[in-house]
Amino acid sequence: MPISQKISAKLKSSSWIRKMFEEGLQMKQKYGADNVFDLSLGNPVIEPPEEVRQAIKSAANDSGQGLHRYMPNAGLHDVRETIAKTLSIEAACKELTADHIVMVCGAAGGLNITLKTLLDPDEEVIVFSPFFVEYLFYSENHGGKTITVATNEDFSLNFNALRKALSPKTKAVIINSPNNPTGVVYSRKMLRELASILKEYSTDNNNPIYLISDDPYKKIVFDGIETPN
Ligand SMILES: Cc1ncc(COP(=O)(O)O)c(C=O)c1O
Repeated sequence: MPISQKISAKLKSSSWIRKMFEEGLQMKQKYGADNVFDLSLGNPVIEPPEEVRQAIKSAANDSGQGLHRYMPNAGLHDVRETIAKTLSIEAACKELTADHIVMVCGAAGGLNITLKTLLDPDEEVIVFSPFFVEYLFYSENHGGKTITVATNEDFSLNFNALRKALSPKTKAVIINSPNNPTGVVYSRKMLRELASILKEYSTDNNNPIYLISDDPYKKIVFDGIETPN
């Protein structure tokens, strides 16, 4: 096949989540959908709400002048403004405006753009183990190196291990709460401690470290659990 050796090798090691998903589809055919609990991809078990379907239909049918043409790279201004307002309330961050928001296609798109923007060759991105496996590829896609930091037995953040992993090459730390795959949710106290360690290290070494929060599951929590920013 006319593809690079690098991509060819990556394909062999990266596709196991997809393989599990494909196998799940086959098992559902064999044993019946009710008998297979597919935990491979984050596919919702419920269908999208009627309001969402209607909104998509009406956007597709909207014949407003220029609506379906290219737009500014960051996305439509009014959409970004609405999101900024919502996030300002949710994150208790009053200064957010449309200028702080960039629209992306999904979390993978957003993380890739962020890392592409931040990383110089061989700079390091810290992730806490166990982590969403695709993070390895997101950093590598942009010349970065992933540094894995162990968590505590209950999967909470291990700050001693983090301190040991920080280096002058550290450019970013990715956190994911609620976490895939462990489900753990980081408390406000834990996030504050993380922020203070990164701030201190950044200041002492004159090397800003960016904290990237990947929280696609922020709103899927139960029993009133708080998912702080
Ligand atoms: C923690 C985490 N980050 C990122 C992604 C990628 O999300 P998307 O499909 O929106 O690109 C996933 C998908 O499973 C995920 O679980």
